[in-house]
Amino acid sequence: MARTPDFFHNKTALITGAGSGIGRATALLFAREGARVVAGDIDLPAAQETCRQVEAAGGAAQPVGCDVTSRAEVRALIDAGIDRFGAVDFLFNSAGSALKRCGFLEIDDALWERSYDLNVNGTFYAMQEVLPHMLERGKGTIVNVASMAHKRGGPGGSVHYASAKGAVLTLTLGVAREFADRGIRCLSVSPASVETPFLDASGTSQAHRERILAGIPMKRMATADEIAELVVFMCSDACEFMTADTVYVSGGGGFR
Ligand SMILES: NC(=O)c1ccc[n+]([C@@H]2O[C@H](COP(=O)([O-])OP(=O)(O)OC[C@H]3O[C@@H](n4cnc5c(N)ncnc54)[C@H](O)[C@@H]3O)[C@@H](O)[C@H]2O)c1
Repeated sequence: MARTPDFFHNKTALITGAGSGIGRATALLFAREGARVVAGDIDLPAAQETCRQVEAAGGAAQPVGCDVTSRAEVRALIDAGIDRFGAVDFLFNSAGSALKRCGFLEIDDALWERSYDLNVNGTFYAMQEVLPHMLERGKGTIVNVASMAHKRGGPGGSVHYASAKGAVLTLTLGVAREFADRGIRCLSVSPASVETPFLDASGTSQAHRERILAGIPMKRMATADEIAELVVFMCSDACEFMTADTVYVSGGGGFR
């Protein structure tokens, strides 16, 4: 079935990590399609800037300061979305980070726990908090961000991150299959490398960047918009038989 042209009109997309990179690009794309946006981010001014851009383009958006590692803040984010727009149709869990690059033996407990708090627990809380609302309405789509790193294991730099993203993949699979016959779809995207502040924030050296690019047949990274387009497609009615799966966006290889 082709996508209904106004499918997103008057529907609401709630996005974590909406203040930057893939989250912001997806917020702008949902808005372009006519959806209302709830932009959650630990960095409130960044979420406000995303909303300013949505509104400048004629859309409606609600910024919310939210640290996804706190279940209470995630619950408040979802409540804020429902209060403002009446419902949440789509949840996009984009908040995440590799935090720091280091060898396996240098991963200390604090880094391990922060990786799982942010990438795994944040996704778990958001799904668990929004699902009762979606189940009550008999519909809802959740998209999580995994990473192609889960296929390679992150040797030498990010085992903490790669394994956390592996958990996101499995969480997605389990939730998708548990609720597949109740109107819920749950998918993940697994990008290779995307040109966003993520790379610098996780301390990616120039040499590491060059190794990444050397392994990508297209010899460039994805743009945040290229990931956003896939997320919006996944949430649309052109994608109704897809659930549980991850989609790799890699320019032909990347981490393989
Ligand atoms: N950029 C890449 O190469 C790449 C590749 C694969 C997967 N990913 C994943 O894509 C997702 C988005 O990354 P990005 O590239 O847009 O990065 P980004 O750094 O541009 O954006 C991440 C956003 O998450 C927010 N954030 C961080 N901690 C948070 C918290 N505790 N609670 C709420 N928000 C928080 C940040 O403030 C920021 O606005 C992440 O899950 C990342 O792991 C990125």
